[in-house]
Amino acid sequence: MGTSSDHKYAEAKEVLSEYGIELERLNIERVEIQADDPELIAEYSLKVLDVDIPLLIEDAGLYIDKYYGFPGPYSSYALRTINNEGILKLMEEDKDRGAKYISAVAYRDGETSVTFRGEVRGFIGYDEKGTNGFGYDPIFIPEEGDGRTFGEMSAEEKAHISHRARAFRKLAEWLVKQ
Ligand code: IMP
Repeated sequence: MGTSSDHKYAEAKEVLSEYGIELERLNIERVEIQADDPELIAEYSLKVLDVDIPLLIEDAGLYIDKYYGFPGPYSSYALRTINNEGILKLMEEDKDRGAKYISAVAYRDGETSVTFRGEVRGFIGYDEKGTNGFGYDPIFIPEEGDGRTFGEMSAEEKAHISHRARAFRKLAEWLVKQ
């Protein structure tokens, strides 16, 4: 798989399929506002889409404690520009390496709209490790793991604890109760 959206789609689809829920990707552009909170970004993108089927939008990002949440809503921009190498360089001298991933999923059907959030706390490593996953995965070491980065974990291991899996599991549990 190539782009980050392919990975995001595969991860989300996998979680939902465990609940018997099908996910399909639409090939449409979304409007992405600037805001600090991924829930607001996902909700706005969803609100302005003129599509009359049950629909969801996910917005995710990496929030580094020491930098007040940077890159946060600018996560894709930071990857495209300074990339993991730049983040590691920026943090070269930092002892405080705490960070979290946040995923927000906004969903709506004809009747209701809801938003769910998932988070995973961890640390930014000192080097890039592993070739699995995508984006920041080679530099993100989850607290709940054994010291490996998400990039060193299998898709199943990542799905156990990832921000995205947590947000989509909440959505799936809500959907099956409907
Ligand atoms: P988006 O705005 O939701 O598409 O995501 C923002 C950026 O964060 C993307 O460029 C992703 O590469 C990065 N990102 C989001 N989730 C993950 C993840 O699970 N692993 C690594 N990078 C991620």
